[in-house]
Amino acid sequence: MTIPQTPGSAQPLEDQLGAVLRQMPDPSGGPLAAELERELAEAFGVAHVVAVASGTAALHAALAACGIGPGDEVLVPALTVVMTVAPLGALGATPVFVDSDPATLDLDYDDAARKVTSRTRAIIPVHLWGRMGDPAALASFASEHGLAVVEDAAQAVGTTRDGQRAGTVGCFSMKDGKILWSGEGGFLLTARREVAEYARAFRSHWLPAPPGEAPLSRLATNSRLAAPLAAIALANLRRISHLVQLRQEQTRHLLHALEQTPGLVALSPAAGEEWNGFAPLLHIDLPNPRAFAEHVAQQGVPSSTGRFRLVPCDTRPMFTSPDRPCRGAAQILDHTLAVVLTERDTETTLDRYAAVIAREATAWAP
Ligand SMILES: Cc1ncc(COP(=O)(O)O)c(C=O)c1O
Repeated sequence: MTIPQTPGSAQPLEDQLGAVLRQMPDPSGGPLAAELERELAEAFGVAHVVAVASGTAALHAALAACGIGPGDEVLVPALTVVMTVAPLGALGATPVFVDSDPATLDLDYDDAARKVTSRTRAIIPVHLWGRMGDPAALASFASEHGLAVVEDAAQAVGTTRDGQRAGTVGCFSMKDGKILWSGEGGFLLTARREVAEYARAFRSHWLPAPPGEAPLSRLATNSRLAAPLAAIALANLRRISHLVQLRQEQTRHLLHALEQTPGLVALSPAAGEEWNGFAPLLHIDLPNPRAFAEHVAQQGVPSSTGRFRLVPCDTRPMFTSPDRPCRGAAQILDHTLAVVLTERDTETTLDRYAAVIAREATAWAP
């Protein structure tokens, strides 16, 4: 299998960045963020896109736009990074952690139903590692309980399931390492004009204000996307199919190289899921699996648990200790080797990763 090289040279991006730099400083911020929004709306086939400074900011703006505030409860999978939950803290809302099903990685809707109260306002499905849950189950749960849905699709550019694009209403990150990267950055997509108008005001200290409101009449944030980052995002958006295909091929390459490795089984996408291949995912069927991920990280293979110490969010110290921890999420994280990739990982790097993983799995005696 051959991993395609990045098409063209870095020249177009350098040209665009050079042009932006020549126009700076520009207190108006320049036209590039709006251009990025237009092209994203076209690429995703949605009515409104609001570009912001990070994926966290996109979630913050989207949740604020959905009216989430003090006293509200929001369902969120324990199987996520802390950035999904941080905006809830900023808005004075309470995260209520929901378990995930180890067989599918999708939300455990029985657990979610048990956790709905009269104060529950929204649910945040998280497409961790680019894997997308069943959209029909999500829609029916949200409608049954009258909940707003804000998708954390930070890692899910390019994934679809049953013909639905991940994040058709959702929040994306463009932090380096994401498939569509710009160093730092994010955006939210929505079909609802009022959500977009609110988010535009929220990202810029309520200026412009939504129709019918006075500028600067509420406290908000500065989470605008800076022009040089918008230029990087635009250049990458214009080669997005290549970037998605590259990630899928990197992932296929690594998983193929590990097919015969004892104790490691590749996780497959669900039926109807067109997966972006965000991270090669392997079920670790070895003793002390988390220690295995940490061990291979020390040997130079980065992974969600080994390098970034990802744990179920409900067990983090800032949340009150749950009476019933989300065991499915813990089981998934303990047993999953999710290798962290970037566009720069060549076939040589992937072969080195595969050799280290295979060697250490074969010799593993914790
Ligand atoms: C699943 C998930 N949610 C939210 C975020 C937050 O995005 P950002 O780092 O751009 O704020 C990230 C990225 O780090 C992420 O992977």
